Amino acid sequence: METLWRQALKTFSGCQNNTYKLCPKNFEKLKYLMNNMTCNDVKVDKTILDIVEKQDAPMSVINIYENNDITIAIFLLKHGVTLPMHDHPGMHGLLKVICGSVKIDTYTIQVEPDEKINYHEGVMAVKHPPIIADKNSSACVLSPDERNFHEIHCTNGPAAFLDILSPPYDIDYEEFDKSIRPCTFFRQSSQDNHSINETNVKLIAFELPSKFYSTNLQYLGPPLR
Ligand SMILES: [Fe+2]
Repeated sequence: METLWRQALKTFSGCQNNTYKLCPKNFEKLKYLMNNMTCNDVKVDKTILDIVEKQDAPMSVINIYENNDITIAIFLLKHGVTLPMHDHPGMHGLLKVICGSVKIDTYTIQVEPDEKINYHEGVMAVKHPPIIADKNSSACVLSPDERNFHEIHCTNGPAAFLDILSPPYDIDYEEFDKSIRPCTFFRQSSQDNHSINETNVKLIAFELPSKFYSTNLQYLGPPLR
């Protein structure tokens, strides 16, 4: 975990600067390390998984580390739960399943550079073929321009996945409109419900239902310093 953390810091250091450029070599090494992560590396054991499955909340989050450049966390979903579709504005991300299995639907929005989008009116996107991922699968990757939106359905739970995001979400609740990286939730426009696999679909922003909430659990893995 410490090696992964150091590589994430190296890969994304200074990512908020205008001059930052993602180094493909560093990113590939980070992905390689991520691919080898297991439950045991972050001390997610049966006790934690039992808590997740028995609690009322559909999801738990274990926050591991955050600075100006990266967020590292573990998300744990109860069996059958769907983490609603959401975006990661301007962010890179790696998602590695470490237990259970999930179906991940990813979307790439179709916008011109500098085009102003009103998410409440909807945005067109390409829906990619679903990915079924378990602990033997490679990490899923998202970037500012590719597969930046995703929805995660727990098909064999409880499931847990390790997440590295860069830069972190920037949510300023008092001045939400001024936030540059809020997390927005989306649904597929109902007229597209019959679409499967790679298809052009319309996505519309929606309020996250109050029944979808999460609890926080403590990180018990190796300290990062
Ligand atoms: Fe996400």
